[in-house]
Amino acid sequence: MKSAFPVLLLILWMVKPLVADVDFANDVAPLLAEKCLDCHNDREPKGALDLSTKKSAFAGGDSGVVITPGKLQESYLWERVAANEMPPKHPLSDAEKQLLQKWIEEGAKWSLEKIDPFAFTTSARAGYDWWSLKPLAKVQPPGCSRAKTPSMHLSEPNEMSTG
Ligand code: HEC
Repeated sequence: MKSAFPVLLLILWMVKPLVADVDFANDVAPLLAEKCLDCHNDREPKGALDLSTKKSAFAGGDSGVVITPGKLQESYLWERVAANEMPPKHPLSDAEKQLLQKWIEEGAKWSLEKIDPFAFTTSARAGYDWWSLKPLAKVQPPGCSRAKTPSMHLSEPNEMSTG
């Protein structure tokens, strides 16, 4: 009898992205940095809500606590986002809302000490992750044993010398 194991593995592999936990550092932090931190930072936090650190975010703002881990309907932050009020005039996309929703439902795990808004590239400016700020990667050129390299032939050997 053929083993069903490979098929099972394949199914698990396909389903994994759907059930995987939201990754705060890679998914939620960039979203907050791009869409919220311009106004909710530690300098002049709008509504007295600073979303750049775990401590300040969970401390809440003018209205009190805004994130209740695991309880979406009790999270004022979600209420404002779901009502398309935050960010003002530029509501989040459905995918972005789903990410925040899943994150709160999964317990609003916050893995970074402080979100550095400049760590992420936004639609308005580059962050440290911008391609041109990354260190140069070592590139392995493709082998070219049989390829002919076009060569430049100068009619006079010294044609280009200045002397
Ligand atoms: C352009 C500036 C701006 C952006 C961007 C912005 N907000 Fe706000 N936010 C405000 C202002 C102003 C207030 C205070 C007035 C109010 O409550 O409507 C506020 C208030 C809030 C409050 C209520 C705080 C309290 O305790 O009363 C929450 C929650 C909130 N914002 C969440 C968010 C989230 C989440 C994002 C990103 C998805 C976001 N905001 C993006 C300007 C902004």
